[in-house]
Amino acid sequence: MSSIHIIYASTSGHTEYVVNVLTAVLRQHGHAVTLTRAEAAKPENLQKGDVLLLGSGTWNTGGTEGQLNPHMHALLFERATNVSLQGKRVGLISLGDERYSLSHDIGHIRMLEEAEDSRNVFLE
Ligand SMILES: Cc1cc2nc3c(=O)[nH]c(=O)nc-3n(C[C@H](O)[C@H](O)[C@H](O)COP(=O)(O)O)c2cc1C
Repeated sequence: MSSIHIIYASTSGHTEYVVNVLTAVLRQHGHAVTLTRAEAAKPENLQKGDVLLLGSGTWNTGGTEGQLNPHMHALLFERATNVSLQGKRVGLISLGDERYSLSHDIGHIRMLEEAEDSRNVFLE
């Protein structure tokens, strides 16, 4: 059994739905799951649990496609820039829409890879 902490941002509820389904399945398998919305997360919440799952939709806020949800962006790239996740097991829940020319698997993951580079996070 692992303790899994999920931090997620969701504007129209899609990521929240996925996170809630995943939480129910993980609990059925005996894992201890806690949830925090990105806008309410403290920087140190990123270190909580054996495993951290980050969930975010992809947005074109400000005109550029492929950005993180603004709340996840603010947490990872503004409030928590000094938090080290070295050695942390991290998983990603990434939502997007293939109608956008920059699909989420390019734009979104690229941004999270930047977070990995800057903080030595191991993405799984
Ligand atoms: C205004 C708006 C902008 C969006 N921009 C992008 C985008 O740039 N790239 C992308 O892949 N998906 C984009 N999407 C699709 C969202 O990522 C998708 O609907 C996602 O499921 C939203 O998740 P959420 O409801 O958890 O916030 C956009 C959706 C909206 C409504």
